[in-house]
Amino acid sequence: MTDAWLDALDPDPRASLAAWLGEARAAGLHEPEAAALATATLDGRASVRMVLVRGVEEHDLRLYTNHESRKAGELRATGRAALCFHWGPPLRRQVRVEGRVERLTDEDAQRYFETRARESRLGAWASPQSRGLADRAELDRRYAEAAERFAGRDVPLPEWWGGYRIVPEAFELWQNRPNRLHHRARYERAGHRWSRSRLAP
Ligand SMILES: Cc1cc2nc3c(=O)[nH]c(=O)nc-3n(C[C@H](O)[C@H](O)[C@H](O)COP(=O)(O)O)c2cc1C
Repeated sequence: MTDAWLDALDPDPRASLAAWLGEARAAGLHEPEAAALATATLDGRASVRMVLVRGVEEHDLRLYTNHESRKAGELRATGRAALCFHWGPPLRRQVRVEGRVERLTDEDAQRYFETRARESRLGAWASPQSRGLADRAELDRRYAEAAERFAGRDVPLPEWWGGYRIVPEAFELWQNRPNRLHHRARYERAGHRWSRSRLAP
């Protein structure tokens, strides 16, 4: 049986994701590389938050964060994560990814950190991500202290800041269609290849 939509997708889902992200960029959608990142504790308590996913064009899925944050603790505890991208009109698409997690090297974190604006780098020093703050003034004070500490020089990579890679084991591509009869493709990794099948929407 032929299946025109499914057959037209790239056999490699990482290429399909890169193509869809490119189309989201071309459509002028806001922050098209933003995705919801789902993690869980070892006893199965799930949590989800948005992150910016880097490297999609190179068929990679990297995110950068504070290693002492809630998400980072859960990524390390289970070694697993899921991502969900959503692009609204005119595309109306979703891509889900499930996979294993690897911590990126400090060299990789350093390379990415250097591409960030000075203010964002100072923010990484200032914010004890996911921990309690007495009040807003505490965060502003911590930022001012970091700005003073690194005045007149480069802001270095904090030892608690870096990245993770999602090594995908499954993808789902979803395309809105009329009458809720959406297209939905699931890819699963089979060794070095990917199997592809259609699921009911
Ligand atoms: C569009 C968007 C993109 C975000 N990107 C990141 C990111 O790349 N890294 C990050 O640490 N937090 C990012 N955040 C903030 C997270 O959603 C979250 O609030 C924060 O990382 C703390 O999460 P945690 O306590 O579960 O670790 C982003 C938020 C939004 C709304």
